[in-house]
Amino acid sequence: MEINIYNDYKQMSNKAANFIINFLQSGQEMLLCFAAGDTPIKTYQYLKEAIDKNNNINTDQLKFVSLDEWIGLNEKDKGSCENYLNKYLFKPLEIKAQNIHFFDACANNLKEECLQSDRYISANGPIDLLVLGIGLNGHIGFNEPGTVKDFSHIVKLDSITKSVSKKYFSGKRGINRGITLGLKQIMGAKNIILLASGKKKAEIIYKALVGQITKEIPASILQEHENCYVFLDKKAASGLKTI
Ligand code: GLP
Repeated sequence: MEINIYNDYKQMSNKAANFIINFLQSGQEMLLCFAAGDTPIKTYQYLKEAIDKNNNINTDQLKFVSLDEWIGLNEKDKGSCENYLNKYLFKPLEIKAQNIHFFDACANNLKEECLQSDRYISANGPIDLLVLGIGLNGHIGFNEPGTVKDFSHIVKLDSITKSVSKKYFSGKRGINRGITLGLKQIMGAKNIILLASGKKKAEIIYKALVGQITKEIPASILQEHENCYVFLDKKAASGLKTI
């Protein structure tokens, strides 16, 4: 694991976008998985700007698989993962719909949704580059503390996640469950970027990066990944001073 600390959110986002651009330069076909959430928004904006200036990157070579979704929400719901990613990533980069595999978190048969995602990764994977955020409880995707599974699955969201979810949505949504890739699929990614910014993430970043590797802090397993690159701003890294 490589930990990079930058002055502020903008600089962190810029460096993360540069990392992604360098990665995409190879021009090979790739399977990518990029998190939704607030943290990567600026990274995706810088990525769009950089791709516009760079003729070497052919986005038609890229396939995407979704990391997670709130059960009961879809593209029409402002704040859903699909809505976020379309807005900040796929529409700006003009990624064709046929190259994106989303979880349909409104499907009648959610188990089948999980299987379809697993099949998509088996057919097109492993994931070449995975961009992750981290929840205040240490979740990655929706792998909640203590509920860790290998493959795509449905999960009961914990109280911290439900409470934090309110920042994405206006009005009450009654969200209780999520659908997510599993930790084996996450750890099977060839390269992982973990992004965190702001003082509120400092404590969980300390626990995840320096603490014991435990199912109670799902992100702590990333310590075992050889190609995991962590991009933090100073505030998110402030708990690491003690190491
Ligand atoms: C959300 C999503 C994650 C996201 C994380 C951090 O609930 N399930 O995929 O990375 O929590 O979100 P944010 O960047 O808004 O803090």
